Amino acid sequence: MTIRLTDLGKTVLETEYAVRGPIVARAGELEKAGREIIYCNIGNPQSLGQKPLTWNRQILALCEYPALMDQAPGLFPEDAIEAARSILAGTRHGLGAYSESRGVRCIREAVAEFILERDHIGVDPDAIFLTDGASKGVQTILHLLISGPQDGIMVPIPQYPLYSATITLYDGRMVPYYLDEANGWKLSRTMLEASMAQAEAEGTRVKALCVINPGNPTGAVLDEANIAMVIDFAKVHGLSILADEVYQENIYLSGDEFVSFAKVLHQVEAKDVSLFSFHSCSKGFLGECGVRGGYFEFRNVPDEVAEQILKLQSVSLCANLPGQTATYAMVRPPKPGMPSYHPYAAEKAAVLDTLKQRAILLAEGLNRIEGITCNVIAGAMYAFPRITLPPGRSDFDYAMALLEQTGICVVPGSGFGQAEGTAHFRTTILPPTEKLQKVVTALGEFHRNYR
Ligand SMILES: Cc1ncc(COP(=O)(O)O)c(C=O)c1O
Repeated sequence: MTIRLTDLGKTVLETEYAVRGPIVARAGELEKAGREIIYCNIGNPQSLGQKPLTWNRQILALCEYPALMDQAPGLFPEDAIEAARSILAGTRHGLGAYSESRGVRCIREAVAEFILERDHIGVDPDAIFLTDGASKGVQTILHLLISGPQDGIMVPIPQYPLYSATITLYDGRMVPYYLDEANGWKLSRTMLEASMAQAEAEGTRVKALCVINPGNPTGAVLDEANIAMVIDFAKVHGLSILADEVYQENIYLSGDEFVSFAKVLHQVEAKDVSLFSFHSCSKGFLGECGVRGGYFEFRNVPDEVAEQILKLQSVSLCANLPGQTATYAMVRPPKPGMPSYHPYAAEKAAVLDTLKQRAILLAEGLNRIEGITCNVIAGAMYAFPRITLPPGRSDFDYAMALLEQTGICVVPGSGFGQAEGTAHFRTTILPPTEKLQKVVTALGEFHRNYR
């Protein structure tokens, strides 16, 4: 007898992941039937035409096939060759061999240096784990924290469904805290306290708080005071913090800057709050989603717990080596004076400038449509506009109808969570500018007819 659905566990069956849910499946069918689909459902920049940075690909190519260094002299700049040689020396056996479970030490040292330069704080390379994208790191830490079905993890609403899905999979409880749409999706202490009080009243043992900064899907960027408030909240309630900082390079408003949780934790000397920070090669200006590179770094974690993290990580041996290599390229870009510096800086600026223009184009375009309101897209890669719907229709119906009529694939707001009585959808800002313009026009027409 073959395996049956009833053989599967309840947690697997209950896990949902809207970003690749039924609407995307339908988009695939329509595409197979010859329709042009504009995929706005997922932050996957290179699938929408973004080019990989030369620096990254040169290092990856050289590490994958070191013979290129001799066979194609002159094809690669000296600094990329040097970077590849350092990585290969660090791996000792090249990219085809497992590394130690935490990841190649010289790459972790490069990550530590990157954090030191960014935040001016000391970093222990052994508190850094290289991962297959940030997702794997988040899953490891949630696995570590959830010890039974009464354990709760505070998650922002709206959230990125990696959190809800993984908490369901590990049989924990998601404790939602609401972001304030009327105030640019700000995170407030009042909302955090309200959510904690409700969780406690329901008998939930809250273990940790997740924060996504800059936010997905909201695009909101936290300032230092906001982060200090979150750390104080965690301290008062004895929570660990998961700081998802994969969009740290995607900040679009002048005056805003990325501030890391690690930096503020250090400043406020909160030695009794455990922090896990996540970063990735998939976002920012690299968009190397398929390479699956990333890392997490922890602070204020006792040695005996750190050993358990190491044990968990070693069950899957190590993160993939090309992903580790891409992480090196991310955290060690060419410096001024190096041959690759100018081309790298130009490629980086071109990507970030277009993302910024698209963020403005999309938010302004959406706000011109009657019945749609969209906050300023301050960071990340998404808009999460609010929509008014005819009675009896859901945001799922809306997104499906939008797909069928226009070929635009977005994700219904319910996949991310939203305040009761509101409806939204999430779209990325990633399609090329003329396509994004078409998306806005088609959306306007669709929305008028749908109402
Ligand atoms: C907030 C957030 N965290 C984590 C991830 C996962 O990224 P990765 O490709 O590094 O696993 C994403 C991907 O979209 C994301 O939006």
